[in-house]
Amino acid sequence: MRDQAEQLRQRIKANNQARPTKLVTVTSGKGGVGKSNFSLNFGLGLIERGHKAVLFDVDLGLANLDVLMGITPKKHLFHLLEPDVTVWDIMEQGPGRLEFIAGGSGFTQIMQLDDEKLDLLFARLNPLQGYADTIIFDTGAGLSKESIHFMLSSDEVILVTTPEPPAITDAYAVIKMLHSRNPAVKIRLVINRVTSDREGKMTADKLAMVAKRFLEMEIHSLGYVADDSHVSKAVKQQRPFLLAYPQAQSSRSIRSLVGQYLEISSKAEIPANGLKGFLARLKHFIR
Ligand SMILES: Nc1ncnc2c1ncn2[C@@H]1O[C@H](COP(=O)(O)OP(=O)(O)OP(=O)(O)O)[C@@H](O)[C@H]1O
Ligand SMILES: [Mg+2]
Repeated sequence: MRDQAEQLRQRIKANNQARPTKLVTVTSGKGGVGKSNFSLNFGLGLIERGHKAVLFDVDLGLANLDVLMGITPKKHLFHLLEPDVTVWDIMEQGPGRLEFIAGGSGFTQIMQLDDEKLDLLFARLNPLQGYADTIIFDTGAGLSKESIHFMLSSDEVILVTTPEPPAITDAYAVIKMLHSRNPAVKIRLVINRVTSDREGKMTADKLAMVAKRFLEMEIHSLGYVADDSHVSKAVKQQRPFLLAYPQAQSSRSIRSLVGQYLEISSKAEIPANGLKGFLARLKHFIR
């Protein structure tokens, strides 16, 4: 089975050598605003559109993407340091053909690796270059050092917030911090749990306006996800809502947001620096 899967992957990879791989980090200021649900269903939405997405759980300690998918990962990132382990060996097959890599406690340990081990880890991640169109990192809430490094190394940051003032304030704190570290950082907003498009637009406009006025920074919105009881129902069933309730309002929001994302990507507004560039930047931050 493994050999077959390996061959298939090699074939796909060979066909897609020229395919740029974009690195996207999903984050938020306040916790519990829906990052993991968004990352998971966004990834599935991309796959629905024939776009290859690979999901990485970077939520330190509190990894929960696996719980949302109802799978128990057998391997995680750090298994890559064992002899003869490839990136394909640590990939879990999620629902809806979504491929997933569990961070385990791996990402906290990255900082402590010596150069040799870090180089080995990164070299073994490299085959993902050209295999995935988009690699999505789901991070934990708040501004941990590790999350900041991931955000600053990515091609783009998706910042999730709800329309509630504390979430908006914390989202702005993330924007401010990222801007202070790299004024050219690309941030896309996703407003989750909106009760109307109007509420979503008002929230996005508010954040964009403040960023423009105080930081002279352009921030664009990818769209809104409806506040929908199907999300919590799907979480309880440990199934992604896009698959469990494809016609629900939340699923429709995700599809339209994915459409918006693909349109922006096709205009190549955001340069895809690829996994190599990402890993080089990450190494620079770690060292
Ligand atoms: N669009 C939505 N509509 C209704 N409820 C939602 C929606 N999005 C998220 N939720 C609720 O919020 C809960 C938390 O979502 P999720 O785990 O995705 O947040 P998170 O930002 O990843 O949290 P953490 O900061 O702990 O990682 C979900 O279990 C669900 O009940
Ligand atoms: Mg989460």
